[in-house]
Amino acid sequence: MSAEPSFGACSKVAPEDISHVWETVHVPLGDHSYDILIGPGLLSDLGNMLSEFLPGRNFILVTDSNVEDFLGLDLANILENTGNRVSMLTFPAGEESKRMEVIVDLARRMVQSGADRGSVILALGGGVTGDMAGFLASIYMRGIPFIQLPTTLLAQVDSSVGGKTGVDLPEGKNLLGTFAQPLRVYADIGVMCTLPASELRNGLAEVIKYGMIWSKDLFAMLEEKWWDVVNLEPHVTAEIVKQSCEIKAKVVAEDEREGGLRRILNFGHTIGHAIEASSEYKIPHGEAVAMGMVAVARISENRGLISPDDRKRLSLLIERFNLPDTIPDFIDDDSILRLVQHDKKVRDGKVNFVLCKGIGSTVITDDVNSEEIIRAVSACRA
Ligand SMILES: NC(=O)c1ccc[n+]([C@@H]2O[C@H](COP(=O)([O-])OP(=O)(O)OC[C@H]3O[C@@H](n4cnc5c(N)ncnc54)[C@H](O)[C@@H]3O)[C@@H](O)[C@H]2O)c1
Ligand SMILES: [Zn+2]
Repeated sequence: MSAEPSFGACSKVAPEDISHVWETVHVPLGDHSYDILIGPGLLSDLGNMLSEFLPGRNFILVTDSNVEDFLGLDLANILENTGNRVSMLTFPAGEESKRMEVIVDLARRMVQSGADRGSVILALGGGVTGDMAGFLASIYMRGIPFIQLPTTLLAQVDSSVGGKTGVDLPEGKNLLGTFAQPLRVYADIGVMCTLPASELRNGLAEVIKYGMIWSKDLFAMLEEKWWDVVNLEPHVTAEIVKQSCEIKAKVVAEDEREGGLRRILNFGHTIGHAIEASSEYKIPHGEAVAMGMVAVARISENRGLISPDDRKRLSLLIERFNLPDTIPDFIDDDSILRLVQHDKKVRDGKVNFVLCKGIGSTVITDDVNSEEIIRAVSACRA
């Protein structure tokens, strides 16, 4: 291991720009407000930043078995070398770890390592780590603070913002959880250079979603700079992470606990979740959401809410990011319909659908009928 690891180094950033905060997004939630700091190489300087932000604290670095190798061991050294006390807790990488048994195991290891109410959890990794470490922090000794250190694009633009934490049950995903806000988020865009393409695509699907539901400017930027986006050009990456966090922060600030506005974040997810589940989770989340967005854009077009041209722009952008804009035949109409009816977000038997109103705006309705869904899905077959 190098003496002074610099995580921004792999991200084509001038050395003098590494470890600088390029963007800050404030999430205004009253007593639970916090900042998201975005920049390349932030983790290289985290020891100094934490010594200043939370002096004298005992840190518990929670990470998965992959990220431990990529980043965790180096980060633990950086923290220790700057005078911070840190113990690292690792769990096996993957969604299969996102369950209560693993939380209990981590909690017991925390007790054994002497973690108390003054300790602070650092969640280093993707959405699985963020959801688990946030959940653990929210219930350990009735709640201790935590900091998000997201390392996947999905975690930087989505799961680390908004305060939803939790684990899965055999009966379904994310069925046990809490709302708990981090003290701060450090999104180091430099660490994403090791992300497999499939993981990058999962994040890009959510970024397209933000453009569709909120910002035609973000959407146009993705169209114009798609090459820089897929190559993680640092300035463009920082910009899309910032804009995505701003949008999610605005939505969450207005609706912290999912009664109203927050539902627009489900754009593409109602049909997307049905496709994901119908494939027994063989189709990755981002791909399923891409298919779900294309299908819901069809429903919207059939209702005259979006022009054929704008609907085609969505398909083209999805293709640019190497995401699918057609639904494979092995996912049949009946299973999509059945699973849409069983979506967790169904209330009083009515399915809330987020339709698009052009690019950058939405309408929520509960009157989308089965025929409309089948017609749209059929139009999305290859
Ligand atoms: N809380 C929320 O609001 C929210 C929102 C969206 C998704 N989620 C949750 O997020 C999870 C998915 O998150 P994810 O896609 O980040 O999955 P993940 O955490 O499993 O990460 C994906 C893979 O990438 C690896 N990885 C992480 N950082 C890396 C890096 N820099 N380089 C190389 N590999 C790296 C991980 O080890 C893992 O194998 C799901 O459990 C989902 O339910 C939560
Ligand atoms: Zn999603």
